[in-house]
Amino acid sequence: MLDLDLAASWHHMYALHIDLWIDGLEEMPASLKDVGDHTACDFGKWLHGSGRRYAHLPGYANLVECHKAFHVCAHEAVALQQAGKHEEARHLLATTFSRASSDVVSAIGVLKDEVSKERGFVRQPANAGHSEWQWDASLEIGVSAIDSQHKALLQLANRIFRQDSVGSESATRAMSTFGKLLELHFSTEEMFMRRCGMPERQISDHVTAHNKILETYVLINLDIASGMVTSITDIHDTIVEWVISHVVEFDLDLAQYAENTDK
Ligand SMILES: [Fe+2]
Ligand SMILES: [Fe+2]
Repeated sequence: MLDLDLAASWHHMYALHIDLWIDGLEEMPASLKDVGDHTACDFGKWLHGSGRRYAHLPGYANLVECHKAFHVCAHEAVALQQAGKHEEARHLLATTFSRASSDVVSAIGVLKDEVSKERGFVRQPANAGHSEWQWDASLEIGVSAIDSQHKALLQLANRIFRQDSVGSESATRAMSTFGKLLELHFSTEEMFMRRCGMPERQISDHVTAHNKILETYVLINLDIASGMVTSITDIHDTIVEWVISHVVEFDLDLAQYAENTDK
């Protein structure tokens, strides 16, 4: 379940931000302003948004409770620090906060197992080092044109991974095909969003995310052309990260409109 894996990494990042802020190693990130709100962090937004696809499983309610408890601790730690009680804040981080954060991670693991059982899907152990990524049913939206383009993008990203060198003719061809499919895919999605009744604000955020990816894609190509990027693995990881992160963060929201729209 790549969506659960990515959401778990958002939770880790959030906990890390609190740690760094309490130690004075970073400014308070915007995400910590609503620290007591368990629906405001990236993980919470996912859990109470597209993550609701797992709400029928018992592990979902457990995860919601664990995540709520984690934010209570986080809020307490931030409040102690703001009151100048640094040692107490640090103590809380090392004890209750750290346990609450581990509880969230364990609850994610339990939910993943339940989803696997429900699907009869057995997770393969990850290969050591870099490997190709396989499509995962948790990323499906329910609109066949969009789902098949996502799968094709992942396959193309994996084709890039199989290239011997960055500048070879076949690597250049694979990158160019990927770019063309990316543009086609974004316009397909944007057409769907405008047709399905999605609120204008949500469409505009999503389109902005598409445009950022296209800009980054152009920059990667410029870096390749100027010899600044020499590792196929780096390109592959960046590209796959886009596809998966973007699908989880934005595209899964389209699933709720899929049923009511002519696909
Ligand atoms: Fe997409
Ligand atoms: Fe998208």
